Amino acid sequence: MQNKFYVTTPIYYVNDQPHVGHAYTTVLADVLARYHRLLDVPTFFLTGTDEHGQKVAKAAAAAGLTPQQQADRTVVRFQELWQKLGITHDDFIRTTEERHKVVVQKILADLFQRGEIYRAEYDGWYCVPCERFFTEKDLVTGNCPDCGRPVEKIKEANYFFRMGKYQQWLLDYIQAHPKFIQPDYRRNETLGFLRQPLNDLCISRPKSRLAWGIELPFDADYVCYVWFDALVNYISAVGYLSDEAAFKKWWPCSVHLIGKDILTTHTVYWPTMLQAMGLPQPEMIFAHGWWLTSGSKMSKTAGNVVDPMELAERFGVDAFRYFLIAEMAMGQDASFTEDSFVRRFNADLANDLGNLLNRITNMIGRYFAGQLPAPAENALAGPEEKTVWDTVQAAVTTLERSVTEMRLHEGVGAAIVAVKAINRYLELKQPWTLAKQADKAPLATTLFTAAETLRVAAGLLFPVMPEKMAAVLRSLGQTNTTPKLDELRAWGVLKPGTPVQDCGPLFPRVEKVEEKTEVGGQKAEVSSKPQVPPAVINPPPSTIPQGVELLDYAHFAKLELRTAQIVTAAKVEGADKLLKLEVLVGEERRQIVAGIALHYTPEQLVGKTVVVVANLKPAKIRGVESQGMLLAASQGDKLVLVTVDGEFPSGAKVK
Ligand code: ME8
Ligand code: MG
Repeated sequence: MQNKFYVTTPIYYVNDQPHVGHAYTTVLADVLARYHRLLDVPTFFLTGTDEHGQKVAKAAAAAGLTPQQQADRTVVRFQELWQKLGITHDDFIRTTEERHKVVVQKILADLFQRGEIYRAEYDGWYCVPCERFFTEKDLVTGNCPDCGRPVEKIKEANYFFRMGKYQQWLLDYIQAHPKFIQPDYRRNETLGFLRQPLNDLCISRPKSRLAWGIELPFDADYVCYVWFDALVNYISAVGYLSDEAAFKKWWPCSVHLIGKDILTTHTVYWPTMLQAMGLPQPEMIFAHGWWLTSGSKMSKTAGNVVDPMELAERFGVDAFRYFLIAEMAMGQDASFTEDSFVRRFNADLANDLGNLLNRITNMIGRYFAGQLPAPAENALAGPEEKTVWDTVQAAVTTLERSVTEMRLHEGVGAAIVAVKAINRYLELKQPWTLAKQADKAPLATTLFTAAETLRVAAGLLFPVMPEKMAAVLRSLGQTNTTPKLDELRAWGVLKPGTPVQDCGPLFPRVEKVEEKTEVGGQKAEVSSKPQVPPAVINPPPSTIPQGVELLDYAHFAKLELRTAQIVTAAKVEGADKLLKLEVLVGEERRQIVAGIALHYTPEQLVGKTVVVVANLKPAKIRGVESQGMLLAASQGDKLVLVTVDGEFPSGAKVK
């Protein structure tokens, strides 16, 4: 096991407020930090803001502020967001803080004194908007190779870091340390970059051009180039040249999390800087992909940003955190759409996880007066019990591996698979049927097993959704709601006899603005704030005109209405309004697809006696066979199923 875990995010520019991209890296770091704490590994999590340089100076000028005022105002937006999102960073560094500036200056002075930084007359081309120098051969038809705008001939003295002399060393280092740059395709990108000759790095800006930065200790006419200043945050924050004990404890860093946009600065500039300082390299630099909106990178410049604060307000902090982690395969790009958000929310959280908790607590409430029942001594000898426990334990293993291999989305996916397995376990065991037996032992074992496996699944998801998973654990009677790994491996942590409480819907379903529903086999666009979602999708709502048409009794008599008992209920994949029900009509088992998911959770339905039209031709709805329809009363947004009071056998005729 590792003896410590030190994780960083990039320090974000304070030229503008944070968006979903910034939230992603920070939530990712938080989840990794929380997993390591769950493993009892001493953890340090650093984030912060990058407050110097051209971008911030420009934004300040545009807002009529001094750069420091701009930084002071914007940093609050980041800090507030991290608080809202439950981010548990141990430190927040601002590069305008004295503790940071002092270290940068000490490093500069030392490198200058040792000849690692030198002064030279620079003669070349400069792109003002990009704030970058180019040589004659870099230019594309005489213009900036990056933005295509005209460049200026500049002749000025500057200070340079001897980066070029580390080229071969860096290549060798990367080759010898396959985990240093991850994922592998990013490592190859850096290796590709290093096939070109590596130039020395200009690390100064004359104050006449840009005054907003840390002054060079050996020349007051210059400030330090923003990246040379910013990268140092990773060591200045943990005590480099100020608190040797702390520095020794945390450095080298376990992982620098970055977006792929800042790969070169982190995998070329930073390692060579550290090497010149005589410091060890970080263990890993992990570059994740981009969140895209309408196909392009979400960015302030592109103006297509999604506000994380608003999403967290609307859908809840934990659901937002979950979406970020589950939806983006670490390393790859991912699209951010409301559609994918709502789909994942409803499928994984509302249906699988939220319903499972409600099913378990409701049944323990109903059948055991709200006290966790004791399982059979050898409960895990039961084949279904063994299967569900094994599935949950496999998820523990996958998740642990996914943390070290930086494939968190897979670990989280495995936890949801485990949740589905617990739901399936309940469907197999049918506790509502077991409840009718005189011997309550099988029912007790079933409900205990479901609760105990849910405890483990909730523990696995705790670092991603700390508030909601703590609520699950409290609901199951746990007083310690920060799980530890050894507890997730152990059977029998929940104590029989403890009160189990309903905590209300954990993730009430959400709706997107537009939704496609299939009605009678035809695709129809319906608004999600519909008049009334068709209570019964099969058959299609009748086209009987307004007004009253009188029927012969003979017509009515053809309809076969019968009572039916709902035995299982589950969502229909990809259809937010549909539930697939298994009902008993007398001895006969039938499957019915009904458009009632917005009005009932599967758990609310199980055990209910309803009225079905029993002699309809079967039809396929979203590819799922439906053998009948339910009767329901509906008005406005309301919908209530027609049920039969009290204990009534299924299969009875309704006349
Ligand atoms: O580059 N998708 O700061 P920055 C995913 N100050 N992640 C994104 C993203 C997107 N669309 N947009 C931004 C800087 N990010 C420097 C860093 S570090 C010593 C200095 C995230 O405000 C991602 O982590 O431009 C990216 O690398 C970072 O924000 C860039 O933030
Ligand atoms: Mg950027």
